[in-house]
Amino acid sequence: MPSTQLSLIDTLIVNADRALRTLAAGSDMTSERASPARSLNEADLSEAERKKSAALMRVNHTGEVCAQALYQGQALTAKLPNVRAEMEKAAEEEIDHLVWCQERIDALGSHTSYLNPLWYGLSFAIGAGAGLVSDKVSLGFVAATEDQVCKHLQDHLQELPEQDVRSRAVVGQMLEDEARHADMALNAGGYNFPRPVKGFMTLVSKVMTTTSYRI
Ligand SMILES: [Fe+2]
Ligand SMILES: [Fe+2]
Repeated sequence: MPSTQLSLIDTLIVNADRALRTLAAGSDMTSERASPARSLNEADLSEAERKKSAALMRVNHTGEVCAQALYQGQALTAKLPNVRAEMEKAAEEEIDHLVWCQERIDALGSHTSYLNPLWYGLSFAIGAGAGLVSDKVSLGFVAATEDQVCKHLQDHLQELPEQDVRSRAVVGQMLEDEARHADMALNAGGYNFPRPVKGFMTLVSKVMTTTSYRI
């Protein structure tokens, strides 16, 4: 078999494997850093508080599923000659976030969103599509997405029950990491999207957060 054909098949297998591992609840993915929740005690939450925390962490988990797909799509098509190592480091940190959110959802006795496969597919297509256009658009898309995520995380810090210190610690560390990812993508030459594009992204993310909160 010609080597180009083989490498295409390899790429497809690697991407399919990563997608399945991301989407499989309780998958074998492990985090590089221990969850910030680990050193804290589980709070005694009422049923309503537990449900609220689980719903918010489910939204965050879906956001991390999207991040996995976005970075995978980007890695497939963008060239990123100067920042590939940084982008790979960011993608590694996204695995930490995914695992931490999954752990919190499990501890809170809930489930991840049933719509995750849909969001993975959409985000992967956007990540790969942006990378095909140019590195500038690809990095700009990462920056705009990370910005969007930061806004959600800030809102969640307001909404999470005060005593759920474990979920709050996870969200706090994620917020710090995502802000760094956004800066890195912009500093690497990412395009600063105009307001209407950002407005449309806000709309799409609203659909994602509203549905993941419930299902
Ligand atoms: Fe993340
Ligand atoms: Fe990020």
